[in-house]
Amino acid sequence: MTSSIQAACHLSHEEGSPRGRYADPTFSELELAALDWLDGFYQLEHLLSARKWVIRLAGNASEELRFAALTHDAERFFPGGPSDKPQNGFDNPDYLFEHSKRSADIVEEWLRQRDPQLPDRFIERVRALILRHEIGGNPEEDIMQAADSLAFLDSFEWLIVSWIQDGHYSFERVCEKLDWMTTRIRIQEALQLALPIYARIVAVARAAGKTDINPANRRAQAANRAFLLGEEFSG
Ligand SMILES: [Fe+2]
Repeated sequence: MTSSIQAACHLSHEEGSPRGRYADPTFSELELAALDWLDGFYQLEHLLSARKWVIRLAGNASEELRFAALTHDAERFFPGGPSDKPQNGFDNPDYLFEHSKRSADIVEEWLRQRDPQLPDRFIERVRALILRHEIGGNPEEDIMQAADSLAFLDSFEWLIVSWIQDGHYSFERVCEKLDWMTTRIRIQEALQLALPIYARIVAVARAAGKTDINPANRRAQAANRAFLLGEEFSG
């Protein structure tokens, strides 16, 4: 059993634990394969949350939208990507475009290797949604972007606590990030859904010095497919 799974098991009964939160019988075979591919990525919970939000916001989310939500930040799992500098601001287009492009390229390469029979139109649509996930665009791309924001606010309390505790960002800088993730939302309904979640994560950030959140354990949970989907652990 790996140390990350041990850490995840250790907190499995913690109040508010995400264990099994993302179980969903509607995962496609392709989505389950992508979850295997990205198992161990510390943003896996964020990706699963984004998929939940696109389903909620779209009503009948397309296969392409669900898949793009589930993989939109994939590039951060693989070394060599662009690095964000706090002094550049959180909406630095140079970083955001490079991040979006690298994710789209990595996801396309994985899709083509996984299933050479996949229609080009599916891959092109997934690419477009990933490329637009930071900025929005047409109605479906706006849903993708809003879901990314909502999923940041509702799945990364542990990350912003670690940023503040480690001195990576000040509380004020974290608030800039949270403000930007919220105010960029282009869909009114999504913004209304985001506001209470925004208020909650700001409160968590403000209390980061005396929180019960254990960032290391939550990071292990957030990266663990079996834990997040409520599957049996092996090993
Ligand atoms: Fe994201």
